[in-house]
Amino acid sequence: MDKIIIRGNNPLKGRIPIHGAKNAVLPLMAASILAESPCILHNVPCLHDVFTMDKLLTQMGVQIEFTGRYMTLSVPNRISPIAPYDLVRKMRASFFILGPLLARFGKARVSLPGGCSIGTRPVDIHLKGLEKLGAKIRLEEGYVIAEGKLKGTDIYLDFPSVGATENLIMSATLAKGTTRLFNPAQEPEIIDLADFLNKMGAKIEGAGTEVITIKGTKSLCGTEHHVIPDRIEAGTFLIAGLATNGDVQVNNIIPEHLHTFITKLDEMGAEIQIGHHSIRVKTPTRPIKAINVTTLPYPGFPTDLQAQMMALLTCAEGTSIIKETVFENRFLHAAELIRMGADISLEGNTAIIRGVKKLKGAPVMASDLRASAALVIAGLMAKEGETIISRVYHLDRGYERIEERLASLGADIQRIHEE
Ligand code: UD1
Repeated sequence: MDKIIIRGNNPLKGRIPIHGAKNAVLPLMAASILAESPCILHNVPCLHDVFTMDKLLTQMGVQIEFTGRYMTLSVPNRISPIAPYDLVRKMRASFFILGPLLARFGKARVSLPGGCSIGTRPVDIHLKGLEKLGAKIRLEEGYVIAEGKLKGTDIYLDFPSVGATENLIMSATLAKGTTRLFNPAQEPEIIDLADFLNKMGAKIEGAGTEVITIKGTKSLCGTEHHVIPDRIEAGTFLIAGLATNGDVQVNNIIPEHLHTFITKLDEMGAEIQIGHHSIRVKTPTRPIKAINVTTLPYPGFPTDLQAQMMALLTCAEGTSIIKETVFENRFLHAAELIRMGADISLEGNTAIIRGVKKLKGAPVMASDLRASAALVIAGLMAKEGETIISRVYHLDRGYERIEERLASLGADIQRIHEE
């Protein structure tokens, strides 16, 4: 298993291009199941989660070519609509194939994802919505078996779940009649999915708003699409710059996607320059200030940047409070940050972070994808010592060669391959 070794206290400086969004490309790959001719995706990131989705679709019979940042997906008329446990348990996003398989082939057998380190993460909203669309659903030996012809209807989501919104949009594109989703997720990745499906011939309106309307069509055809940039990757690099007293500019991004996040950096006193497709964040001469952050569904502060933000706030001036409202158990990084000298106390879903003068390097353990990114940032901030991060496979799920990219900004960071 690989390890990452960081010697901190180097200000990160420079420009960095941002890759395609993990959370956009995974549903797009699943959505290509709906098309009767090949789909072409551009700006595809080389991430482990993308390789897992590739493997899952390939073992079902989908033909995939993935070279550079370019992917072609061709779905034959008959495939094996089964998603096995060993792949779904590795990546919850595998569950996104349930809706498209059911809509196009009339049946699907997809393993239940189970829990993960950041919470129990049930799929009840996905299943309730599919049942409302007319699917017959039963659970057998840890698998969801869904069958039936889908019919448009009104669906109210109890929580604006990103995955459930995506599964239901995809299912409704081939359902008979009109579906309206109330209280859907409004993330930019939802809009990207709707844009892709509309290019395939779907009739979706309102993505990114409080009601999404989908008029069902008989069939969809292949199309070509550019994956939107990864706002979480961009936010992670900007935090890394600010945390190291640096000056980092992220390029190839859509600045509006980071609006709430940037508002928070501004509150901390960071110097921010927003371009058409870039954001530059410079460290101010005064120490950065403590702030309060509450994670919420988009357009609120993204839960996927909460851990990285916590790392940054460990050395801010004053006491910060972070409230995590999206996931029930997403503070596993706090204990590791405390081992590096942070002063954090947890009360339920609230973290109280009292700013300290400095962090010190330590051996730490990554627990999930974004927690790993937080530990990398803390390692870069450490004024003395070496930080050794183990279980870095979590990082590779969502960041492409992060050590090389941070090194290009001046970080002293290395990956060690270990058997
Ligand atoms: C997606 C993102 C993930 C991000 C999350 C929230 C992808 C591949 N992943 O995950 O990076 O952190 O959105 O922005 O896009 N829930 C239920 N029942 C359901 C579905 C969800 O209770 O049927 C709960 C979950 O347990 C969680 C919350 O709703 O507490 C948010 O989950 P959801 O929005 O569905 O996240 P994902 O789509 O899994």
